Amino acid sequence: MTMARLQHLGRANRRMDSTRKIHIRDGVRKMDEPMQSTGQILSGGSFFGELVRRAEKNQPHDPSDYINPNDGLLYCGKCHTPKQCRVSLDLEGTGEQEFTPPVMCWCERERDEAREREARAREDLLAIDRLRSKSLMDERFRTQTFASYRTTKNNARPLRLCKRYVEGWPEMLEKNQGLLFYGGVGTGKTFSAACIANALLEKRVPVVMTSFVKLLESMQGFKEDGEKLIAQLNKAKLLIIDDLGAERGTDFALEKVYDIIDSRYRAKLPMLLTTNLELGMMQEATDIRYSRIYDRIFEVCYPVQFVGQSFRKTEAKRRFDDMKSFLEG
Ligand SMILES: Nc1ncnc2c1ncn2[C@@H]1O[C@H](COP(=O)(O)OP(=O)(O)OP(=O)(O)O)[C@@H](O)[C@H]1O
Ligand SMILES: [Mg+2]
Ligand SMILES: [Zn+2]
Repeated sequence: MTMARLQHLGRANRRMDSTRKIHIRDGVRKMDEPMQSTGQILSGGSFFGELVRRAEKNQPHDPSDYINPNDGLLYCGKCHTPKQCRVSLDLEGTGEQEFTPPVMCWCERERDEAREREARAREDLLAIDRLRSKSLMDERFRTQTFASYRTTKNNARPLRLCKRYVEGWPEMLEKNQGLLFYGGVGTGKTFSAACIANALLEKRVPVVMTSFVKLLESMQGFKEDGEKLIAQLNKAKLLIIDDLGAERGTDFALEKVYDIIDSRYRAKLPMLLTTNLELGMMQEATDIRYSRIYDRIFEVCYPVQFVGQSFRKTEAKRRFDDMKSFLEG
């Protein structure tokens, strides 16, 4: 029982009988001095006294524990800090009595805190799992992290910017600052976006990662569903939408893309978009159906270029070479 708990019980007891006086101090009583028995305390109607008595009696003992002759209190044989404290209480209005209820020694407190830390860590993992299952992310992106990021001369810069973005997340959120990953096929835009998503999910930031194609498919139904879906998406602090421009260029699709971007823009929440579209083409678009989308994107998303050979091509070449040496080597 901690001192704070004792004081709390003391206060509760005082409320029951306002004439009782309670002091808690560090006394000098020797361990073998007689003290009032539990029976006497109970007959005085002291609920608090009984609690302290029981705590004293049930104090866990380790064979290495010992009584310190300097203060007569029980000490831990391992960390040599007290396992008891001394309290002096006047419970019956008949004078003060001394009690030596148990307290946690240093190593017990350490164990207790470690248990709490573990429980918190488990709780964190569960929370992250729950977030991840709501993130709409494709299974294959869930394991992609900065730790598994293969660096090449082409992606060193995007990698640096991605890590900076994660480190600066609170400020990015505050400023509604998003990113636009653009560049050729297979250069790692989706991979890098997934790394950001997973790094933020680890920090318990609600992230949703989906694609324009998937969003539009789910919006084919009724108008209300589309609005509901957009409202759902805005619950994410970061919304990642893959493959802007891969959706069909129908009026319906363009209208929906506009709705998604505009509602995010108005909610002042950051988004991360990836696209194969050419930056110049986007900046110079004159067709209002496109330019009203792109204008909003450029205002709130910092463009990051991805260059180089397609990772898929490199992987295909590696597989080809492996197979060739296996079959023909
Ligand atoms: N830095 C990296 N480390 C390891 N694997 C990577 C990395 N970048 C990309 N890849 C892998 O290369 C492949 C292509 O990457 P990704 O899908 O991210 O490209 P993309 O730029 O999004 O392409 P697209 O424009 O076609 O959508 C994927 O299988 C991905 O897992
Ligand atoms: Mg992609
Ligand atoms: Zn100890």
